[in-house]
Amino acid sequence: MKLILFLALTLSAGAYAQGGHHDHDGEHNHAHKRGHKLDMTVIKQFFEPLPVSIIDEEENAALIKLGKKLYLDPRLSVNDQISCNSCHGLDNFGVDNEPTSPGHEGKRGDRNSPTTMNAALHIAQFWDGRAKDVEEQALGPILNPVEMGMPSEAAVIDKLKGIDEYQALFADAFQEEDDPFVYANVGKAIGAFERTLLTPSRFDAFLKGDEDALNIDEKRGLKKFIRAGCATCHNGVAIGGNSYKKIGLVESYETTDMGRFVVTNIESDKKAFKVPSLRNITKTGPYFHDGSVATLDEAIYLMAKHQLGKKIGPAFVKDVKAFLGTLTSTENSDKK
Ligand code: HEC
Ligand code: HEC
Repeated sequence: MKLILFLALTLSAGAYAQGGHHDHDGEHNHAHKRGHKLDMTVIKQFFEPLPVSIIDEEENAALIKLGKKLYLDPRLSVNDQISCNSCHGLDNFGVDNEPTSPGHEGKRGDRNSPTTMNAALHIAQFWDGRAKDVEEQALGPILNPVEMGMPSEAAVIDKLKGIDEYQALFADAFQEEDDPFVYANVGKAIGAFERTLLTPSRFDAFLKGDEDALNIDEKRGLKKFIRAGCATCHNGVAIGGNSYKKIGLVESYETTDMGRFVVTNIESDKKAFKVPSLRNITKTGPYFHDGSVATLDEAIYLMAKHQLGKKIGPAFVKDVKAFLGTLTSTENSDKK
């Protein structure tokens, strides 16, 4: 099934590329003059609008309330200084805009903090996909010595039990359970909250049929994004987040991070990373797994070069960037 989908996507990208004329960079190709309008059937083969919701927010209200409280609470860290929100700001598109993030002692890890917005839609969590979902993922940073630094699961539970307001919040969220204070429940609650972090954008309105949701420059950027082959990896509901690909697929890319290989031990997974979602990408820099790429212009240029073997010019960057801007959320950018 996956293979068929991949072939369908690849073939339609190829057909689309061949159907078009040579795309000289710098030249503004007016769709109406050239007679190849954006073909909605092709676009819909690549992309899907965000669902309205992926969790029943009414039924899970108590769980989500607890999860949000935990997400924002620095007491989940050993020195009461760092919360999930420190590195994944709800009022900042789920990131901290740092190349790598300082933890409870100011020490930094090796990787850039990806956004928590729409992360629940990904095939798995982390740059290398080592956690299967947001519930499992949330349990990691609390005990990570560089991040929140709590010494053990028991220490986290003891600390939470000692905070009055959590007594009622845990009891409400896990009514069926005799003892709601178990470590896995911390992950369940935070994960439930993260499932509410969906950020619809103008591109969703466009995919749902509002052709005027994108202007002419943005539409041209979208066409270039598909034609060049970006959409063979960045596709689906999150415009990414649904596969692992090697960085430097066509032209080798310098990095010491072995990515997915460390999880699977499969040779071809060396330097493979989860293809990032491009939703809110204009707001979530710096870019790449190590945060080494400062600007979106540079990220687009490097992608074309290393993933597609294409040398692109400023007009391509400008147009594709205009399209990527339509993925920035129009509502809910402040989830606090
Ligand atoms: C000190 C900064 C820091 C803190 C605190 C932190 N994170 Fe992260 N988070 C990161 C980094 C860095 C990564 C990427 C690590 C990797 O991929 O190896 C990450 C990855 C993630 C991801 C995966 C997103 C994706 O696209 O794969 C989610 C979800 C997430 N964090 C949620 C949380 C939650 C929930 C908390 C609180 C329990 C938390 N983080 C605390 C820095 C932080
Ligand atoms: C073969 C698959 C593939 C293709 C084709 C591809 N990308 Fe990527 N893209 C990736 C992967 C994998 C990463 C993560 C790389 C890393 O962090 O080392 C990425 C990262 C990015 C980022 C940075 C995201 C972030 O959060 O740091 C941007 C922006 C981006 N791609 C845009 C594009 C554009 C524009 C194109 C077309 C010119 C493109 N990509 C083509 C796989 C691909």
